Amino acid sequence: MGMTDTIKEMFGGTPDVSTLQGLFVEMLKDVYDAEHRILESLPTMAESATNAQLQRAFEKHRTETEGQVGRLEQIFDMMGLEAERKTCDAIKGLISESEETIDMAEGHVLDAGLIASAQAVEHYEIARYGTLKHWAQTLGLRDVVKLLDATLTEEMKTDGSLNELAETTVNPSAFVADVLNASEEGRGSSRRS
Ligand SMILES: [Fe+2]
Repeated sequence: MGMTDTIKEMFGGTPDVSTLQGLFVEMLKDVYDAEHRILESLPTMAESATNAQLQRAFEKHRTETEGQVGRLEQIFDMMGLEAERKTCDAIKGLISESEETIDMAEGHVLDAGLIASAQAVEHYEIARYGTLKHWAQTLGLRDVVKLLDATLTEEMKTDGSLNELAETTVNPSAFVADVLNASEEGRGSSRRS
């Protein structure tokens, strides 16, 4: 009997939510919803970005996210369950904060804000996938662990490249934009005096 059979046997129906298995499935539904919301928000983030590398990073992560949705569907299937979304209020909140940033800021400063928003999302996902991976290990779901680990690694890489982009390019550009603004305002006020 293969691992897949064991998983199906273990999760023949939706498990009781008061068990670790049940909580695992609930969290799976939560990240499944989160990934869909992220998938919808990434094109706007890419369009709003000024920095070409940042645009590409968002586009690349959109493709990755499609694969992550696919992995979650594989996991539901391996467990003999229908893939189901459960509203993730945390990601909903983070995305609406990111939309606020898009309304408030522009140019290089907006790029810095977009990275901050994207990293908040990545950190949420890293926390969730980290927990899911550990629970799957505890539950003895070895094939599920592999899929969760693949996604966790992608999220951590994305977080790392966003960090690098912020430190090397985007944050310094945002600061220069501030300095240029301040000096223009300075000239404006001396003209007025
Ligand atoms: Fe993701």
